Amino acid sequence: MQIRRCGVLWMEPREVAHFDLGVLLAGNTGVVSAMQWYAHAPQRDAPLPVEAADVALLGSLSPSDWIEAAPLSELHGAERVQSLMQAGLIVGRGEAWTTQRELDERFRQQHWYGLAAQWHANSRWQGLDAAREVVEEGIDTSQGLRTRYGVPPPELIARVDAEQRLALPSPVTEQLDELLDRRSTCRNFDIAATLPKDVFAQMLARVFGKRGDVHAADDFEVLKKTSPSGGALHPTEAYLIVQRVEGVAPGLYHYHAGDHALEPLPSPDDLNAFARLAVAGQHWFSDAPVLVIMAPRFARNFWKYRNHAKTYRTVILDIGHLSQTLYLSATDLGLGAFITAAINEIDIERALGLTGFVDGPLAVCGFGARADAMTTSEFDPNRKVWPRNG
Ligand SMILES: Cc1cc2nc3c(=O)[nH]c(=O)nc-3n(C[C@H](O)[C@H](O)[C@H](O)COP(=O)(O)O)c2cc1C
Repeated sequence: MQIRRCGVLWMEPREVAHFDLGVLLAGNTGVVSAMQWYAHAPQRDAPLPVEAADVALLGSLSPSDWIEAAPLSELHGAERVQSLMQAGLIVGRGEAWTTQRELDERFRQQHWYGLAAQWHANSRWQGLDAAREVVEEGIDTSQGLRTRYGVPPPELIARVDAEQRLALPSPVTEQLDELLDRRSTCRNFDIAATLPKDVFAQMLARVFGKRGDVHAADDFEVLKKTSPSGGALHPTEAYLIVQRVEGVAPGLYHYHAGDHALEPLPSPDDLNAFARLAVAGQHWFSDAPVLVIMAPRFARNFWKYRNHAKTYRTVILDIGHLSQTLYLSATDLGLGAFITAAINEIDIERALGLTGFVDGPLAVCGFGARADAMTTSEFDPNRKVWPRNG
């Protein structure tokens, strides 16, 4: 049978620590550290601890050329080769290895740049309560951060002496400036308020909807939207956790940007618990009437910029633009908005039937009416938002 290495592989020499009672009794701390190799292949769910001999074996294999397995098995042992094939790190052409081979093929078809794929795979969370962790670590306040991490890099820098600076005309304050100044991250949603359906629809149309389209070439359609997008490819899909919108049953939806319509998806039994899991325990966000999971279809973008070092960055930048459009649209409609990248990607992928490397969430936004009282702190030094009635 013929074999080759999986498409992308990174071998990590990781320092791992474990507790040893014998070492403790001998008068030391009891913590022993050792080096352990981990094989990272982005199409797998998790990195795999491997031996140094596996590293040598995998390092000898091409990810493109197929070779006969027999000589390799003779050299390294059939058992070692088989276990790496089982893990999908070596791909076989035989029938028995279809599952691993197809997964690898599917990953290759997305045209990920190898390092970006590793970064993406390794930055996805599952079941994490980040909100609780920062409290436990005492870094949930500015003072806590200052105490723990010392002095931060300064908020401003100067590249020349003050007298060398060229003063600019004072800015005039226009409507857009007022809107920009009212933009503020909302961490206090009115949990009793239901969002009117027309406002909800307008938000989606403004931020994610199609505003025009172009037939660029045969079988190549391009959409115009309100935010810029690398290559005009608009790879980001909006999945909605609708909790309180007039006339829309609570649940998960996909927004069809072309038809400006909701596509109902199977929903978890406890939608609010899922929302809270999605935003990694940040209850100040999970109570928003609408949360928007922004999940790019990577291949749409990587189709043009194949296996390219810049492309993942482009996809992330797209999300940032969508977020600001969402913030400003919400502010204009008198609503609060937020974005968070502290999300449990893997839990979201499972709920929505996404794969992580074909399509997967990079951030969650949300919007809705603000509460009358601030319970969780917000950043509003110029009092543009708070006090609500003052
Ligand atoms: C990419 C990104 C990620 C963010 N993630 C979080 C988050 O996880 N939790 C949170 O409470 N705020 C989050 N924020 C909001 C920032 O904390 C907020 O923008 C900042 O405090 C400045 O406040 P302002 O947006 O009201 O000006 C995020 C903002 C951005 C742009």
